[in-house]
Amino acid sequence: GDPRLQGISEAIRVVPHFPKPGIMFQDITTLLLDHKAFKDTVDIFVDRYRDMDISVVAGVEARGFMFGPAIALAIGAKFVPLRKPRKLPGEVISEAYELEYGTDCLEVHVGAVEPGERAIVIDDLVATGGTLSAAIRLLERSEAEVVECACVIGLREVKGQCRLNGKPLYILVEPRQIENCC
Ligand code: PRP
Ligand code: MG
Repeated sequence: GDPRLQGISEAIRVVPHFPKPGIMFQDITTLLLDHKAFKDTVDIFVDRYRDMDISVVAGVEARGFMFGPAIALAIGAKFVPLRKPRKLPGEVISEAYELEYGTDCLEVHVGAVEPGERAIVIDDLVATGGTLSAAIRLLERSEAEVVECACVIGLREVKGQCRLNGKPLYILVEPRQIENCC
């Protein structure tokens, strides 16, 4: 495999029992502090997508905003923020998705994406896939073609599939566990 992936994985801090008991929180803020690991992360995505005729990099609020703009600039694409509800001032399209307790929602500005544009969706982490599925639906309702979803961290199989809503999912590293953690 790519020798840069181990450094990326090791730069992600694992915080046990955050934000609640039993969760092994994968903290990418430490990756952002590590210039080599951060640059390697962006470079791997840029190398993958630069020749795929992508004109839209859609980033999922909040942590997708930390990787998406750098990728968009490097591949010559626009950056489109997919935001939590009531943050965007213009006309929006909304998609709800399930959380463990209740639902949340992502929104995109009408007109941010034009029909037929080729898009990728970027986020830091995929867990259930609910967030990325909502992102895909938003872009498809905007008549974009979703080429792939990309995450820094995830299990390669989400709900027994390595695809989301029929779209490929590209993941750099698996979530880390901490040994001897209760
Ligand atoms: C986290 C993470 C992903 C999402 C993954 O975001 O950054 O966006 O959960 O979970 P899923 O695959 O089960 O949908 P969160 O909603 O906690 O908010 P944040 O990015 O704004 O911190
Ligand atoms: Mg998030």
